Amino acid sequence: VTHDIAVIPGDGIGKEVVPVSLDLLNVLADIHGGITFQFTEYPWGCDYHLAHGQMMPKNGMEQLKQHEQIFLGAVGDQNLVPDHISLWGLLIKIRRECEQVINLRPVKYLEGVSSPLANPNDFDFMVVRENSEGEYSEIGGTMHSGPDEVAVQNAIFTRKAVERTIRYACALAEERNQKVTSATKSNGIVYSMPFWDKILAEVGEDYPKVEKQSQHIDALSAFLVTKPSSFDVIVGSNLFGDILTDIGAAIMGSIGIAPAANINLDGKYPSMFEPVHGSAPDIAGKGIANPIGQLWSAKMMLDHIDYPELASLLFDAMANTIASGIKTPDLGGKHSTEEVVDEIHKRLLAN
Ligand code: NAI
Ligand code: MG
Repeated sequence: VTHDIAVIPGDGIGKEVVPVSLDLLNVLADIHGGITFQFTEYPWGCDYHLAHGQMMPKNGMEQLKQHEQIFLGAVGDQNLVPDHISLWGLLIKIRRECEQVINLRPVKYLEGVSSPLANPNDFDFMVVRENSEGEYSEIGGTMHSGPDEVAVQNAIFTRKAVERTIRYACALAEERNQKVTSATKSNGIVYSMPFWDKILAEVGEDYPKVEKQSQHIDALSAFLVTKPSSFDVIVGSNLFGDILTDIGAAIMGSIGIAPAANINLDGKYPSMFEPVHGSAPDIAGKGIANPIGQLWSAKMMLDHIDYPELASLLFDAMANTIASGIKTPDLGGKHSTEEVVDEIHKRLLAN
């Protein structure tokens, strides 16, 4: 079997952590036997914009849509292109046009990482974020000026999007530890959040074994810090999910290790796997970027294309490498990207 993967290293450390991840994916394909990854690299990003005046060619989306999945590094270089142009011209464009309606982010404690939590007991949960509508809408406007100036911003919640998001979370919980916590704020937001809660109750009936609870976003944010080990799957709207996942990345100890998947549900277009971090211009070119966020994204891609054994091989090799003290400076270590990757490689081959 050949898996046809589009690769966009992007900018900054994306160009460092993506190639090493492809190498390890090839190692995993060899370990498995009978599968090959065919990587097609697209040099799109801020350098490309400098040369061509756009982040990707006109037919860029058509090219991408022909691949099975997309593996992306990070995009953005303020010195070359303003961030809103690089973000909307590539990343957000792909998420929208490939209908990647679910954003998935694991939050898990890794031994050997210094979490800012006083007692980072073994937390391990998944945040399912609605990725297509909600609070991030372009409907609204501004009026008047001076002391009477007003801004109106509308949020959009469609039954279709809320239902598929909650359904995804419940199905995921069925495969995990049978618990879904839904982020709400129905005491203060009187239309969209009661609607969200109603759909949770309806959809939940199809998942009788899954324990469902709703928690107000403010309290839920606090619980992520005070008792993160009590969660299994958390589901939230676009804005709530955005906030919760940043708290998640923070309690994991470094943004350099957090991964994400943008999922196209019907398989009509590719899904996209990318780390949470950006292009880290402050450390780009120094050889010290943490490769774990990118590798964990590769692990999510392996899970998605249904190689759970390879995914856990990779995860264990990564986690054991960090636990053994071989880690980059962002985790308090002294090792380079290459040394961390070499150790992971060695551990993969030892299996
Ligand atoms: P950033 O995530 O690039 O960096 C924030 C801090 O975390 C920096 O100190 C950086 O050195 C550190 N860091 C990030 N990833 C790391 C890794 N793998 N290993 C070690 N340290 C790491 O966020 P920032 O500085 O706000 O943005 C830089 C550029 O990246 C901007 O142009 C921004 O628009 C873009 N960006 C792109 C994203 C994406 O492609 N998904 C996400 C976030 C930012
Ligand atoms: Mg965010």
